[in-house]
Amino acid sequence: MDTKSSIIDRPMNETETDGGFDAARIDAESIEELERIGSDKWTRHPGCIGAFIAEMDYGLAPCVAKAIEQATERGALGYIPDPWKKEVARSCAAWQLRYDWNVNPAVIRPVPDVLEAFEVFLREIVRADNSIIVPTPAYMPFLSVPRLYGVDVIEIPMLRDDASGEWLFDFDAIERAFAAGCHAFTLCNPHNPIGKVLTRDEMLRISDLAEKYDVRIFSDEIHAPFVYQGYTHVPFASIDERTARQAFTSTSASKSFNIPGTKCAQVILTNPDDLDLWMRNAEWSEHQTATIGAIATTAAYDGGSAWFDGVLKYIERNIALVNDEMRTRFTRVGYIPPQGTYIAWLDFSPLGIDDPAAYFLEKAGVALTDGRECGECGAGCVRMNFAMPYPLLRECFDRMYEALRADGLCSESFSIANV
Ligand SMILES: Cc1ncc(COP(=O)(O)O)c(C=O)c1O
Repeated sequence: MDTKSSIIDRPMNETETDGGFDAARIDAESIEELERIGSDKWTRHPGCIGAFIAEMDYGLAPCVAKAIEQATERGALGYIPDPWKKEVARSCAAWQLRYDWNVNPAVIRPVPDVLEAFEVFLREIVRADNSIIVPTPAYMPFLSVPRLYGVDVIEIPMLRDDASGEWLFDFDAIERAFAAGCHAFTLCNPHNPIGKVLTRDEMLRISDLAEKYDVRIFSDEIHAPFVYQGYTHVPFASIDERTARQAFTSTSASKSFNIPGTKCAQVILTNPDDLDLWMRNAEWSEHQTATIGAIATTAAYDGGSAWFDGVLKYIERNIALVNDEMRTRFTRVGYIPPQGTYIAWLDFSPLGIDDPAAYFLEKAGVALTDGRECGECGAGCVRMNFAMPYPLLRECFDRMYEALRADGLCSESFSIANV
């Protein structure tokens, strides 16, 4: 695109190399300051530590903040114009090269958020009176949204293999559901809320079944950048021609750059029929994408890499703390360390706590997601977002531990024995 004659101004600091991620400033952030900033995470339960909704407390990448500021200054807040749609597609395709995926920008379209993409998938491809498999525990709307479109949800719990410390797919149950007539599958990679990073082999096995039973796959890759050392994100559609045909992929910079309120996700339509269908029937969804989101997203994908690397490093420090706490003070809690995302799945049922989300909100002032919202298998569990300042994460575990200790659910003996 010729930027000189276009409506698009580049952010001034797109060439910055340090990314401007300031860990020391984040470490110093207080609960009061986070409440003052005013996110849902920190205002829904005043005075409590917000660890439920999937937002990070790390502010904006300077390149994103600058792009938004410049757009506001020049009043670029109208309906999304075609040049910005193209910029989103170009920058998203360039970002996918991180995962060795050389995808054609022509198949990438903007959409306000990943759930809107999911809704188009349900409405246009799955269609009413059919069903979709959702491996559980799942991102909550995967369970509630299909029903709005007359689509039944088939929950298939992931298998917790404590010996290997891995979450595994129940391929037998998945095949049984396909054989019984289900033609749609929800893939979430990395998987919110268990943090599993899918292997190529697992995805190929799902693809084999999809081929056998004529199944389409919604591949939610919003957490793709959050993959820890030792793991690799493989976009499902990038594996081969067959997965490209089966996939209906959606992603976004919203998680990695903490801009979900700017409303600009992307669909990557590697099945040519989907692209035709999208252009015919999803124009209205596309039109609802926010121009400010397109501007923020493009700045993030183009210039935010170094800032994001700082985020990931910070999050890896946090996950080390979560792992440590589970190994020392919370030994009876069911837990498999996540391989990606910034979310942990904690099973308090061995302690006999029926509703740990309500328990910790009341007794510890920590707001977590009730595991039952993530599927029937989530009773006794919570989803914890640990992308907060490190000192607050420490405080969070201290508060939770004290609550358990006060109730005699966390005896000194087992905690000391395991330190
Ligand atoms: C797995 C997953 N998909 C989709 C979303 C929705 O993100 P957005 O609204 O930014 O598209 C989230 C948000 O938490 C998520 O965790």
